[in-house]
Amino acid sequence: MGCRIAVFGTGYLGATHSACMAELGHEVVGVDVDTAKLATLAAGEAPFFEPGLNDVLKANVDAGRLRFTSSYEEAAEFADVHFIGVATPQKRGELAADLTYVDSVVTRLAPLLTRPAVIYGKSTVPVGSAARLSEMAQHLAPIGDAVELAWNPEFLREGFAVHDTLHPDRIVLGIDLERRGRAEEVARELYRDIVGEGVPFLVTDRETAELVKTAANAFLATKISFINAMAEVCEAAGADVSELADAIGYDARIGRRFLNAGIGFGGGCLPKDIRAFMARAGELGANQALTFLREVDSINMRGRTRMMEMTREVAGGSLIGTRVAVLGAAFKPDSDDIRDSPALNIAGQIQLQGASVTVFDPKAINNSRTLFPTLNYASDVRDACDGADVTLVLTEWEEFQRLEPAYLDPIVRCQRIIDGRNCLDQAKWRNAGWTYRGVGRR
Ligand code: UGA
Repeated sequence: MGCRIAVFGTGYLGATHSACMAELGHEVVGVDVDTAKLATLAAGEAPFFEPGLNDVLKANVDAGRLRFTSSYEEAAEFADVHFIGVATPQKRGELAADLTYVDSVVTRLAPLLTRPAVIYGKSTVPVGSAARLSEMAQHLAPIGDAVELAWNPEFLREGFAVHDTLHPDRIVLGIDLERRGRAEEVARELYRDIVGEGVPFLVTDRETAELVKTAANAFLATKISFINAMAEVCEAAGADVSELADAIGYDARIGRRFLNAGIGFGGGCLPKDIRAFMARAGELGANQALTFLREVDSINMRGRTRMMEMTREVAGGSLIGTRVAVLGAAFKPDSDDIRDSPALNIAGQIQLQGASVTVFDPKAINNSRTLFPTLNYASDVRDACDGADVTLVLTEWEEFQRLEPAYLDPIVRCQRIIDGRNCLDQAKWRNAGWTYRGVGRR
């Protein structure tokens, strides 16, 4: 018999976690304030595109192990284990994270807890939040310190969310080491099948657990900005960053993954997480330790402007009146997520320089249209590239990597392609008579 679980928040994190916990045999209720989202989920469908998630949702809704509600009362009555999986976006006009949603889960849930319960935080939060929320929960709950709050950060990647949840690299649990309660024992029960497969299960204090998550994302962001800085040097020196990445990547201490140079990182996590991390370090008086992340952020943002400038150069010195096709809008392939997407940022910058920009993305057009209504949107590659003076590939969807120059030849006005993700075979395009430019490539 599985555990009875409530998961608060049904975004990427919460929806995936709900479905996967049910898949592991637990009884799960997903909770959100957004009733439209709940209706979609109850029908076994994710409100966003994530490969494989619909199957897991549907199978578990049909099996009766997974349901959704907007009622905290129902969730508190049903579950003994509660997960917080709501968003922690960047505050408007500040680097810090906005904890309104996380706080609100605790302030609404805790007063309803009338029997011992464990709350696990999964959202990415500034270090120190778990201890603060724990006090808050115990203060508000009728059962007082029979409520335990632990931190169990999530490391899933969009596009691989189901796989990463069911087969994580590691499980990290941060508990109150001075007053060890049931949080560890319950987590071992929740994740028994996963731990049984040999996945490392690391128990630490809450602060370390919170920091593990931010440190991991800061490291990944740094790795990407490192290679993008090398790309700038390669361009200046006439060298090739893809070959450089392959060569340094063979050193196991460095590793080839996350060394793909291009227009940089975006999405709902890396950009805001490094900023929130800097802000928190400042509050703690350790701001000097993280000043390098400011540089990581600048290198990343510069990549977007450099891509606009490269497009202008390839277009012959001015973007005014040129037609630019942008292939890709999502912040990465296999996702319809456009939060802080470098592709859309670049499309917008190019348009502001006087070009007519038409965007196509296999999954992210609807989301893009809502956020950037002034760009033109196409229904396929052909439509986007019709009469284009320059074609940009800004998200490395497989569909774009497979494109053949001969297919585009009769469609575009000029045979010029810019590969913002270094994902195309440059020889193929050059041999077909196209002008090809990549990021930091010869
Ligand atoms: C990231 C982390 O990888 C996850 O481990 C973490 O759980 C998640 O944030 C989170 O905090 O929730 P995700 O945002 O899904 O996951 O995206 P990534 O796969 O990390 O890619 C981020 C960005 O970096 C994308 O825009 C991608 O195009 C870019 N990237 C990635 C590069 O520019 N070069 C690379 O070599 C790799």
